[in-house]
Amino acid sequence: MPENRNPYGSVKKSVLDCVGNTPLVSLDRLFPDPGFHVIAKLELMNPGGSMKDRPARFIIQQGLKNGTIPPDAHIIESSSGNLGVAIAMTAKVYGLKFTCVVDPKTTKTNVNILRQLGANVEIVQEPDDQGGYLKTRIQRVKELLHTIPDSFWINQYANDLNWQSHYYGTAKEMAEQLEEPVDVFFAPVSTSGSILGCARRLREKFPHIRIVAVDAVGSVIFGGKPGKRELPGIGSSRVPELLNPDEIDDVVYVSDREAVEGCRSLLGKEGIFAGGSSGSVVAAIRKTLPKLSHPCRVLTLFPDRGDRYLDMVYDDEWVAGLESDVTNQLIVT
Ligand SMILES: Cc1ncc(COP(=O)(O)O)c(C=O)c1O
Repeated sequence: MPENRNPYGSVKKSVLDCVGNTPLVSLDRLFPDPGFHVIAKLELMNPGGSMKDRPARFIIQQGLKNGTIPPDAHIIESSSGNLGVAIAMTAKVYGLKFTCVVDPKTTKTNVNILRQLGANVEIVQEPDDQGGYLKTRIQRVKELLHTIPDSFWINQYANDLNWQSHYYGTAKEMAEQLEEPVDVFFAPVSTSGSILGCARRLREKFPHIRIVAVDAVGSVIFGGKPGKRELPGIGSSRVPELLNPDEIDDVVYVSDREAVEGCRSLLGKEGIFAGGSSGSVVAAIRKTLPKLSHPCRVLTLFPDRGDRYLDMVYDDEWVAGLESDVTNQLIVT
């Protein structure tokens, strides 16, 4: 055996070292007008399958470093999807326990992935006074924090390290990768961590950039009317503590059906197999293009892969069952 045990380049210490450094790609086939250059950061290439690998890794690494997370901690979070998977992956690497609080709407696939990654999955059953499960889930998180020793709540809606993971990660990389300035940044919103972290970093390099939030019809984040939403990942039934609406220039609302069309055209034209919120940003860019200056450089990100949406976005029967669109609004704040 030769001395050099690593002839193929640097070997990462763990899967967590593979988080980040995702590529930027031009969407010239989807947006062929030469006056509009649309560029997307493929956050779906993170090892846990989504951009949520970044806050999960950042929050746990910082906590272990500064002692707020003890080395034998039991991590608790309410999440039905990407953050749960990302925390489970991170907890595995650090040998931490993890309980993920979910509800009956969480897909079987996600519950299975969480369990395969060693997470303890608690499924709350009681709907709250709004007919959803958010309050019941938070209530359960609080009970677990009282009963489990050395437990630590990630609290993604209120934790500043959430937006900082994107400021020091996603957006730092974008600022370094971009050779020319961009005019507009579109991002799908739920906790608002990614859009705020990116906005704060991108504005340092491109002070005139417009920041456009893409929200789901039926989400209340920006004062919208609460309503039925089916796609996970985008929108929320509560206003996140992290949100500062003054940093957002426009909000574009996208229905589930429009998001599906966005996903399918992204796959059909670019061969990019992405999740629901990526389709939402594609739909939002499409709706907004006629209102943008010409020429224009647009930046966005695609948060997760399509695999976990095979029974939704990519299933014709599921799509046929969606309510027809009630709105097509663009709200300028
Ligand atoms: C697929 C997907 N897209 C978009 C978002 C929104 O990101 P943020 O919570 O940073 O606003 C999430 C968050 O869970 C997500 O899972």
